[in-house]
Amino acid sequence: MTIKKIEGKDMGRVQDRVAVVTGAANGLGKAIAMRLAEEGARLALGDIEAAGLERTAASLTAIGTETVTVTGDLTEEEPAQHLIQTAVDRFGQLDILVNNVGGSRNAKIWEMTAENWDFVLRLNLRSTFLCTHHAVPHMMQQRSGKIVCISSGAREGTPWTAYYQGGAAYSAAKAGVHGFIRDVALELAEYSINVNAVAPGPIDTERAGENLRHLNETADYSPNRMTPLGRLGQPLEVANAVLFLVSDEAAYITGHTMAVAGGR
Ligand SMILES: NC(=O)c1ccc[n+]([C@@H]2O[C@H](COP(=O)([O-])OP(=O)(O)OC[C@H]3O[C@@H](n4cnc5c(N)ncnc54)[C@H](O)[C@@H]3O)[C@@H](O)[C@H]2O)c1
Repeated sequence: MTIKKIEGKDMGRVQDRVAVVTGAANGLGKAIAMRLAEEGARLALGDIEAAGLERTAASLTAIGTETVTVTGDLTEEEPAQHLIQTAVDRFGQLDILVNNVGGSRNAKIWEMTAENWDFVLRLNLRSTFLCTHHAVPHMMQQRSGKIVCISSGAREGTPWTAYYQGGAAYSAAKAGVHGFIRDVALELAEYSINVNAVAPGPIDTERAGENLRHLNETADYSPNRMTPLGRLGQPLEVANAVLFLVSDEAAYITGHTMAVAGGR
């Protein structure tokens, strides 16, 4: 944990900032919430899974972090609005939004149903739109804010997914995240709100990690072989990039998608 001392007081890199993290019950969302908490943020967490969300909240409370949770489907407007409003009601401000909810239903393009196509675009883009839409009026009023959306290396196509499973909907959605942050960064620049994305490569999370390790053992076009650094990434390595982008150190960075993908 990096701490800088200011006037004798321990100060984190996002000390006392209020951060909303979506999809915080598992994987990257949980790691991002923990990393922001270690650096002094207060947290409002959203997820569709109540039990996992409470586990994350308990870990944060254990390190002394003020935390509030909202359970709900963040692709729906009411829960998304409720999450943002809960953060503002509880903490009186909103400084950071991390749009992390996302995922895929993989299928080859000739087998993918329209239902699964719609599901994947909705999961990755509609939640990002809704949470941002409801968060920015508060940030505009403050004339400050940091938004980070989670894209993916898949925005340019992922070889192992394409060859073995098919991932066009997910790649389209994650390229959509890049387009989203490019536009919204321009819209919000005059309010000193930074809008960026992090695009992780193959990360060893509880859920995605199993499939990635299986591919490493069985596939010719495996994640390790096609990643210059030759290994899976760790959730903390993605969380560190998000932390940098929401900290004051990244004040002059906006409209940028940062790859955390081992060189791919
Ligand atoms: N793990 C990777 O290798 C990897 C790589 C690139 C990008 N990503 C992206 O990072 C983000 C997190 O991925 P992860 O691997 O941690 O996934 P994960 O499935 O472990 O976690 C996603 C979280 O989102 C929650 N969620 C799902 N649908 C929801 C909904 N409708 N409303 C509210 N919450 C919902 C889940 O309950 C879960 O807690 C996603 O956007 C994913 O696309 C992951």
